[in-house]
Amino acid sequence: MKIRIFDTTLRDGEQTIGVSLSPDQKLAIAKKLDELGVDAIEAGFPVISAGEFKAVKMIAAAGLSCEIAGLTRTIKNDIDAAVDAGLNYIHTFIATSDIHLQYKLKMTREQALEKAIEAVEYGKSRGLQVEFSAEDATRTDREFLKKVFGDVAKAGADRVNIPDTVGYSTPEYMAVLTKDTVEVTKLPVSVHCHNDFGLAVANSLAGIHAGASCAHVTINGIGERAGNASLEEFSMALKCLPFEKKYETNIKSELIYDTSRFISKTVGIIVQPNKAIVGTNAFGHESGIHTHGVLSNPLTYEPISPELVGRKRWLQVGKHAGIHGMNAMLAEYGVKPTEEQSKQILDKVKTLGDAGKQITDVELLSIASDVLGEK
Ligand code: KIV
Ligand code: ZN
Repeated sequence: MKIRIFDTTLRDGEQTIGVSLSPDQKLAIAKKLDELGVDAIEAGFPVISAGEFKAVKMIAAAGLSCEIAGLTRTIKNDIDAAVDAGLNYIHTFIATSDIHLQYKLKMTREQALEKAIEAVEYGKSRGLQVEFSAEDATRTDREFLKKVFGDVAKAGADRVNIPDTVGYSTPEYMAVLTKDTVEVTKLPVSVHCHNDFGLAVANSLAGIHAGASCAHVTINGIGERAGNASLEEFSMALKCLPFEKKYETNIKSELIYDTSRFISKTVGIIVQPNKAIVGTNAFGHESGIHTHGVLSNPLTYEPISPELVGRKRWLQVGKHAGIHGMNAMLAEYGVKPTEEQSKQILDKVKTLGDAGKQITDVELLSIASDVLGEK
């Protein structure tokens, strides 16, 4: 089954604290995402500033192969701005949970529903493809949410999206809401999961298993607070994990690492070393048991081959190191110690490791040449 990837790096991702991109930077990222194979890009929120409007307009006119969407509130002026920016696809949203209605929108449920229907009808009257989101869906009364989604479907929405706005859902509840939504709308359903409890990818996958056909994701999982479901984790999980159903995406997985590095540099957000798939350590090995295993058969300690996501395996020596891994590293530099010399080098490495030292390749080579008497 083909799963659609809706990338919101340029909209929800750009809402990360401290991130603000110029139109040229946004266009460069959009081109990278298009090359990566995403199906749709949320280019931005056209009405929020002149620079954002310009960026969305440039992306819409760039002739990319993926679909380009823009975010709008359920307000005519927002929708008009999207049309003026050259978009033919809007992602329009209004909050539906009581907490948002009472404290943010100061509206009744009925008023919010009316706004949602009006926006969908207006978007359609302007010839747009309309995806509707019920913001804070996972904290919305379940029966009211069904009513909202059912009514926007009747009003002509092309797609609906279930946002887990504050990452409050469990995979089980995401599945419940997705089934409800598919049933009442009979439309393509997307899920949009935030990572406040570290469950964004698990919740997105649960939505897919329950019948959603699309997930909103960002590169490196950037986004508000703890971020959004990460494209690389979500797409690689779909591709590689042993689910009952077989899933596919249009993502060219071998471009994932390059795209992740590009976005990290452009937005100025470092990827944590232990981040799945794209973190520095995701395909690095230090402990003797692991390096020995990986050198015998990489599948012992790597669930997927690093090349599949455009990466290479790397080894590190330290206090956990073993002779096999260390010798493999030395062999890469053409150094082939005897068994006795290997033991001496490893002893020195472990002494330094015990003293809390990180040992670089250069230091390892220097220890080896000491032992081999090559000074
Ligand atoms: O998380 C969210 O609810 C959103 C909406 C704009 C859909 O990003
Ligand atoms: Zn969001």
